[in-house]
Amino acid sequence: MMDPNNQPSPNKGTAILEGSAFMQACRRIPTGYTPIWLMRQAGRYMPEYRELRARHSFLDLCKNSDLAAEVTITAAHRLGVDAAIIFADILLIVEPLGFGLRFEKSDGPVIDGMVRTLEDVRRLREVYPEDSLHFVFDAIAKTRAGLRPDIPLIGFSAAPFTLASYIIEGGGSKSYRHAKGLMHRDPGAWHAVMEIISRGLIRYLNGQIAAGAQAVQIFDSWAGCLSPDDYLEFALPHTREVIRGIKAGVPVINFSTGTSGYLELLREAGGAVIGIDWRVDLAQAWDRLGHDVGIMGNLDPVVLLSDRSIVVSKARELLRKVEGRPGYIFNLGHGILPETPVDNVIALVNTVHEWRAG
Ligand code: CP3
Repeated sequence: MMDPNNQPSPNKGTAILEGSAFMQACRRIPTGYTPIWLMRQAGRYMPEYRELRARHSFLDLCKNSDLAAEVTITAAHRLGVDAAIIFADILLIVEPLGFGLRFEKSDGPVIDGMVRTLEDVRRLREVYPEDSLHFVFDAIAKTRAGLRPDIPLIGFSAAPFTLASYIIEGGGSKSYRHAKGLMHRDPGAWHAVMEIISRGLIRYLNGQIAAGAQAVQIFDSWAGCLSPDDYLEFALPHTREVIRGIKAGVPVINFSTGTSGYLELLREAGGAVIGIDWRVDLAQAWDRLGHDVGIMGNLDPVVLLSDRSIVVSKARELLRKVEGRPGYIFNLGHGILPETPVDNVIALVNTVHEWRAG
């Protein structure tokens, strides 16, 4: 439809985004080149981020929607990637769930108030992100307004298991003994935690979509600590519930690490695209998942610390495995490491864009 003022109309904007390589790959439509974006593409390896971070705490950056939008846009434009991911954190939702959240320099995230008993479970609060996480929605709207109109914006959250593990352990964990302890000792309490979390996540992700995100990613970063049986019984039903609760037609990326022992179950949990880490061969993973789903990954982030020529050859090795199949999104198998040279990231993006199958 013609716009009377010759301004881009919202419909035109949607068409441009839908036609982008990233969105097409999410829908397994063949693309002219392989789309790439990188987990943690906005972060400490980037001087622009470190400069802002010197003046603001990490949580302040997340909660100030102007700064969060600036960080998101700067990273995407500087790298020339095919998608932006909103600058935020999977743990922001723990405050509205009723816990304190701090990021300590040496210990990573600390969550005050742990969930260990049924009594604790009863204290969890229902999350209404329109009130408590509105700053993320504002950041998404501001990012969408400032981002190149052909670059899709990815919203995200944790998967229920990864979020539950954080609030039960009170932070990161090596053994996940408290999270596993609760699921084995009191499955009723476990599922009650997961249900309240999942309801909040569904509202949160749909709120991000309403604010302007074109796709969403669910990070099950710590699911790899579970046995296949425990994943099936204690995590999968809730991840599936969240994915089913997301607005129809919006691609969901179901990302996890350390889960190559039960990729088939990830497929069962759902998602238009499955994100995998480098511990599994990409071609084998796709065979196991089935070629009727998209795949994202899976370069080892440590490769980006090597010489440029190694970055290029490792990227090409991975692209060769894809054999030009539609539905592939290039990414790392996990987030960019803080020591990574920005020039290596740009070289990776260019290598992927220049690749032609054959
Ligand atoms: O660029 C992007 O990818 C978007 C922003 C983003 C952040 N965290 C910013 C961040 C995203 C998508 C996340 C997700 C996230 N957060 C995950 C899932 C991905 C993964 O890594 O498995 C997890 C587990 C978290 C929790 C978290 N946040 C931890 C464990 C830490 C501390 C460890 C670390 O890497 O510093 C954070 C802090 C964090 N989140 C930083 C950033 C840029 C560093 C904060 C700083 O500037 O000091």
